[in-house]
Amino acid sequence: MSTPSRTASTAPAARASARDPADDDRRDHDPEAGPLARGRFPAAFRFGAATAAYQIEGAVRVGGRGLSIWDRYSHTPGKVADDDTGDVACDHHARWAADLDLLVELGLDAYRFSIAWPRLYPAGRGALEPRGLAFYERLVDGCLERGLEPVATLYHWDLPDALERRGGWRSRDTAHAFADYAAAVGTRLGDRVKRIATFNEPWCSSVLGHLHGVHAPGHRDLDETLAVIHHQHLAHGLGVQAMRAARGDLELGIVLNAHAVYPVDDRDENIRAAQRFDAFHNGAFLEPLFDGRYPAELVAALGERMPAEFEADCPTIRQPLDWWGLNYYKPTRTGDAPGTDWPMAEERDEGVELPRTDIGWEVEPVAFTTLLVDLHARHALPPCHVTENGACYNDVPDARGVVDDAARIRYLDGHLAALADALDAGVDVRGYFAWSLLDNFEWAEGYRMRFGLVHVDYGTQARTIKASGHWYRDFVEGARGPD
Ligand code: GCO
Repeated sequence: MSTPSRTASTAPAARASARDPADDDRRDHDPEAGPLARGRFPAAFRFGAATAAYQIEGAVRVGGRGLSIWDRYSHTPGKVADDDTGDVACDHHARWAADLDLLVELGLDAYRFSIAWPRLYPAGRGALEPRGLAFYERLVDGCLERGLEPVATLYHWDLPDALERRGGWRSRDTAHAFADYAAAVGTRLGDRVKRIATFNEPWCSSVLGHLHGVHAPGHRDLDETLAVIHHQHLAHGLGVQAMRAARGDLELGIVLNAHAVYPVDDRDENIRAAQRFDAFHNGAFLEPLFDGRYPAELVAALGERMPAEFEADCPTIRQPLDWWGLNYYKPTRTGDAPGTDWPMAEERDEGVELPRTDIGWEVEPVAFTTLLVDLHARHALPPCHVTENGACYNDVPDARGVVDDAARIRYLDGHLAALADALDAGVDVRGYFAWSLLDNFEWAEGYRMRFGLVHVDYGTQARTIKASGHWYRDFVEGARGPD
């Protein structure tokens, strides 16, 4: 087992604040005896739950919606487990009002959802589709009527397929199309949605989609990946500028799945590999967005394969932001992989003996604290909102109709305590969104992997609040102490 003192990071703050996972007595805490983090959050802290358009909406041919790359990918045999698609998903496009009622029943302050670009612009650019806009207006108004803060993400991976046909994120033009789309959202919804993220986890849509080939569009090419990373960053910068020009009162940010990187063991070559992994998988995102440059070692190794004059775009990419979002699920273990493309490091977790969720991810709350402390020490970050955190456990209703997902309760309890530790260490975190409100289409895993606080029966579309949903409601009720 690695300890945080061997993380890839060199930030002393991280090491000073970290607990050794082996000493983490929280593992034995019984969450039924009361949440670990009760009363540890400030009075103004916001709690919510998150979803994404393609994972829940369904209605892919309703209201003039155009195809997205995920429609094409999920309809390609063999790409998604059981060949599942998002055609119906949670039928949220029709059931949105009842789903917002669930958020109220859970006692939450905020709802994070994403807008499907191809609902607003079926061909990616051109004329705005009024029926697509009307859907999000209803959703946003529905949030406000219920006292929920709407938090919108513009790009949660569903690129209009028409843009993919013209080069997708490999093309610089797509960054300009995104800026037009962002401006339209700012203009048409910005009177009611103040908090907007440009991108969700650009690492997934670039690296998983273009290097590992396991997300849409399913390519495996490092040069393409570098172009996609850069053009998404540029799209973010142009999008922020466009939204700021549309309205002056928006709270703009971006959501990243920064990795908590650990070498798989203490060997020097694995420690060095973890540092390279960190530069490629974290630095290539955090540094341009917040520090105005790409990591030096990445530029030295791959600069010639980046889009021409990428450095000239850095000032556009680094826009002042009001907040940033962290999605955290698990730590990442890496080891040396000589003979492969830079960063010559691969994910490896042999010999790691931590509990795992049903999707196989390690449960490691301490890494969450360390990551937050470390990132805020290393980069010029604005206040943070944890925009996703949660766990995959595939419990279903028992004979009484109860979903007894005790393991998810334990996961949430430990991670909320880890978040409170980060606050105590001085990290400015303002909100927490559980992933996810509903069981939903888990990308390449299809419907077999369930992350919801609310169970969805995909045959009947019946929703059942799980034990974890009830636990989260009780937790939120008592989470905030006096300021
Ligand atoms: C992501 C996405 C979610 C996933 C979740 C669980 O962050 O990967 O935002 O869409 O469903 O993370 O894998």
